[in-house]
Amino acid sequence: MNETIKTIYERRAVRKYDERPIEKALINEVIEAGRMAPSAINMQPWKFYVLTNKELIKRLSKEISRAAASEISKMKIRKLMKLAASFFYLSHRLDFLKLEDAVFHGAPAVIFISSPKTNEWADLDIGMCSQNIMLAAQSLGLASCPIGFAKYVEKTKSYKKLGIAETEQVIIAIIIGYGVEKPEPKIRLKDNLFFIE
Ligand SMILES: Cc1cc2nc3c(=O)[nH]c(=O)nc-3n(C[C@H](O)[C@H](O)[C@H](O)COP(=O)(O)O)c2cc1C
Repeated sequence: MNETIKTIYERRAVRKYDERPIEKALINEVIEAGRMAPSAINMQPWKFYVLTNKELIKRLSKEISRAAASEISKMKIRKLMKLAASFFYLSHRLDFLKLEDAVFHGAPAVIFISSPKTNEWADLDIGMCSQNIMLAAQSLGLASCPIGFAKYVEKTKSYKKLGIAETEQVIIAIIIGYGVEKPEPKIRLKDNLFFIE
């Protein structure tokens, strides 16, 4: 296996971190890798908001949990089932609202990534950018996890502290830090490949 493929295989969604802060140079390096992602018509629509203030991370985590719970309680059953499938981890976390940092898992750095609300390719562009960030982090000895719940940050009281323009929407956040767990890889489905002769 070459180094790139090894990095892809070794990356895991890590949800336990030690307290050690991450050097700014490393944060810059992973974001540079994010910037190297492809984007539709080369719009490079991403903006990065890096949070390292422990108190603010914890506060936002609590506010996002509450906002997400409130949004989820308003959802119709079909949408709810879809959400449970994609964010399956919620079902394992019935105490979601009580956890100290249920959303950002105690990570020392959170990178919110936004895109203009008008960008029809936002999810794809930011998805590619996010994967670059996570693979770069992995290659530098850092762990990471994509946090889809972070999009609820827009519904929190502390959102304005991030200074994100009205015209932007938060697509995802990536948490990074020094991991203190090594989750086993999840089984990958194999019945999804079709060669058309
Ligand atoms: C778009 C997206 C949103 C996700 N949101 C969350 C989240 O909010 N919280 C979380 O703990 N994990 C989240 N994850 C991580 C997935 O649960 C994880 O990637 C998946 O279980 C596979 O595990 P692996 O990344 O270790 O291979 C998200 C992943 C993706 C791609």
